[in-house]
Amino acid sequence: MALVEHKRYHVTTFGCQMNVHDSERMKGMLESLGYAQADERADADLILFNTCSIREAADNRFIAHLGEAKRLKSEDPERVIGVGGCWAQSVKDEVFERFPFVDVAFGPGQIARLAEFLASDSLSAQGYFEFEDFSGHLPMKREREFQAWLQISQGCNCRCSYCIVPSTRGRERSRDPAELVAEVEALVADGVREVTLLGQNVNSYGRDLGASRTTFAELLALIDGVDGVERLRYTSPHPKDMREDVVRAHAELAAVCEHIHLPLQSGSGSVLKAMRRTYNRERYLDRVALIREHVPDCALTTDIIVGFPGETEEDFAQTLEVVDDVGYDGAFTFLFSPRRGTEAAELGDQVPHAVKRERMARLVELVQRRARERAQRFVGRTMEVLVEGGTRRDPGQLRGRTRHNKAVNFEGTASVGELVEVEIESATSQTLTGHERLLSRVP
Ligand code: 5AD
Ligand code: SF4
Repeated sequence: MALVEHKRYHVTTFGCQMNVHDSERMKGMLESLGYAQADERADADLILFNTCSIREAADNRFIAHLGEAKRLKSEDPERVIGVGGCWAQSVKDEVFERFPFVDVAFGPGQIARLAEFLASDSLSAQGYFEFEDFSGHLPMKREREFQAWLQISQGCNCRCSYCIVPSTRGRERSRDPAELVAEVEALVADGVREVTLLGQNVNSYGRDLGASRTTFAELLALIDGVDGVERLRYTSPHPKDMREDVVRAHAELAAVCEHIHLPLQSGSGSVLKAMRRTYNRERYLDRVALIREHVPDCALTTDIIVGFPGETEEDFAQTLEVVDDVGYDGAFTFLFSPRRGTEAAELGDQVPHAVKRERMARLVELVQRRARERAQRFVGRTMEVLVEGGTRRDPGQLRGRTRHNKAVNFEGTASVGELVEVEIESATSQTLTGHERLLSRVP
């Protein structure tokens, strides 16, 4: 038996779904090299971090973990420490100066290079930070048998002034539609029922494909057409590229779910302008109206940044107004965090931390109240739920998600990965509660 078959790896993932998916590729690639997964970091020969750099808090959390890896490496210098993802990309070669115990560092999507490093007998630290690699062809180890991510593009051509992603993931490149359809067919054959398309700006998909150009709406139709895809989701779209054909896909294509995550960021025209979002409040609300016209019951969620440089009380009040008007089913809210190399980090008029915190508290209160109100429309209805497992508190209770992407806790007898009908009895801002309708399994 080759020595490599005994080796074990441990991966810790930070950040967005794109990173979660990249980690699935990392694990798949390592297992194809004969590595096995270790439950604890201390038991691993190869300790990997897949990092995020979106906000300062993300950096800080990761550095604490890295401290533990340093200690483990000093106990056993044979251990290999690898750091991948957006934080690694954002500090590039500096990583070896600041953290000399790191053996290999690589940017997002550079997973194949990690394999190259492991296969070589290199004893010196290596960094891989090119943008052209794609991990789409690598094997993957899915977290859940019945759900899969599908990366449709890489990188981002937007220039949002607060965002580090264009500098960590490069220009946008779309994957070939035929390759994507083939991947979905293989996933379905392997037990997948729900597919989530991933990209930094999914609805600009295909613009770089030249003559064989396929739009995002056409891609949705192609994937919806694959037999066995029960649910189709995507994240994230950009409001500037949200066209009617994509909205209609939610009404017309059976698998496309009744949920759209449409990042607002701010409700103030002048802040949106300084953010370089290229839409204003009216255009955003117009997109929402279009969604409500074609898919009246559609769940809407969003991302909002509080305390962007120069944000006045009046600007913030406009954000609250939009949140109240739209009535989101949920929102991710973030304190603005200056990121190095971004335009917004250099702007004067940074909002004091205490002001950001106070605005955030008001925003969260409103988001939750509106989400709770919106969730009441599900009470008394029977909803299709994809079962994900038991609840954390009570393993006798089941947990799953509706097509609207609402979490549901319910009494029932279904198995993980099954689609069942659940009668909804009550609703909070985040979670629905109910019981399974027996003898009514969705075939
Ligand atoms: N500060 C705060 N929030 C940010 N986001 C992106 N960059 C920053 C930043 N510098 C938020 C945006 C984005 C989400 C993924 O993270 O709301 O949509
Ligand atoms: Fe994802 Fe952005 Fe974090 Fe990179 S920086 S992992 S793209 S959230």
